Amino acid sequence: RYAWFEQMRATQPVWLDEQSGAFHVFRYVEVERVITDFSSFPSQGVCNSILGMDPPQHRSYRNLITCAFTPRTIERLKGRVAEITQALLDEARHKGEMDIVTELAYPLPVTVIAELLGVSPTDQPLFKRWADGLLGQQLSDARLFQPDEQEIQRLGQVHAQMQDYFIALLEERTHAPLDDLISVLLRASTDGKRLSGEEVIEFCKLLLVAGHVTTTDLLSQAIRCFDEHPDVLEQVRKQPELLPGAVEEVLRFASPFWRLTRMTRTEVRLAGTTIPAGTLVFAWLASANRDAEVFPDSERFDITRSPNRHLAFGRGIHFCLGAPLARMETMVALPMILQQLPNVRVIREKPLELFEGEFVFGLKHLPVQFDTEA
Ligand code: HEM
Repeated sequence: RYAWFEQMRATQPVWLDEQSGAFHVFRYVEVERVITDFSSFPSQGVCNSILGMDPPQHRSYRNLITCAFTPRTIERLKGRVAEITQALLDEARHKGEMDIVTELAYPLPVTVIAELLGVSPTDQPLFKRWADGLLGQQLSDARLFQPDEQEIQRLGQVHAQMQDYFIALLEERTHAPLDDLISVLLRASTDGKRLSGEEVIEFCKLLLVAGHVTTTDLLSQAIRCFDEHPDVLEQVRKQPELLPGAVEEVLRFASPFWRLTRMTRTEVRLAGTTIPAGTLVFAWLASANRDAEVFPDSERFDITRSPNRHLAFGRGIHFCLGAPLARMETMVALPMILQQLPNVRVIREKPLELFEGEFVFGLKHLPVQFDTEA
């Protein structure tokens, strides 16, 4: 795909896919403009979610939920993230090998979100199932225009189960609030406005999808990038202060979100091309993040890159609300992995299994080996 991006940036930066009638945008400048200026696409991801809202509805909703992601909340979660990571590492440490994706990078964020929301540990396997179910929807978003019967039924079931679960949880918290996100969201108010129960539920469902697989990708791609650049790994081990820059470079180099979807409200001119009103536009973040006009020597993984204004978390009013949480989880887990799995290296017997969805991109598995204490 990256070779295709490069070719498209050079030859057809704004490309009309005749078959679907949608436009695709590949260069940094246009991608940035599309994601900040164009209208949101209502059926992106979970229906009725904040992702599909435009101002002024977006502003008041976002103000309300922002209170759930304060720097204090993130700081408070740090210790818990370390505990969860430790428990996952303890299960694998004696084995000498593990799958970083399925045994660590996947369970970590789902446990964090479940705990953040106030879901009891016994219900957490349910959460994982729902995340898998909804991700199917994200990956097959193109099919939303003509989803087949089976897909509609499957998604309907996932939504219904989640809906029932959250309605019950909401009821409990309304009567007996706790210190969890659901209770905070129920109490939140700005300018005399509050979130309805339905809005709280929609948001919980979104968090499950938005905050899960993306963080899994970030963490596992970080290990992969380090493995492919042993000099960088050495550097990070010696100088931990380089880690934040390294995480930003992983976000640029292997962006978990491939592309975002927008819609034109009126006719627009973009890089000399006219896009009619009411057209779908796909903005390829992963391509923008490799644009050499903005990132010199863009195909090089360079953890000292500065500035590094990558678009992996989006830009503008929809800028990822969970970015501080994703960064914190990665910053806590990565040094623990590197310290506790001595000489960790990717097993390269087979080619790495990639997960190339419509919107999200990452690794299905990342088998690693490491030394164990004799
Ligand atoms: C929005 C990426 C982690 C919650 C976004 C957007 C991107 C993104 C690109 C913009 C969508 C758009 O403009 O249409 C990522 C990546 C992550 C990550 C790469 C991990 C590495 C998280 C986490 C959470 C989260 C951990 C929460 C637990 C959200 C929410 C929005 C959002 C609520 C919607 C904000 C709005 O529409 O105003 N994310 N995300 N994300 N993200 Fe993330």
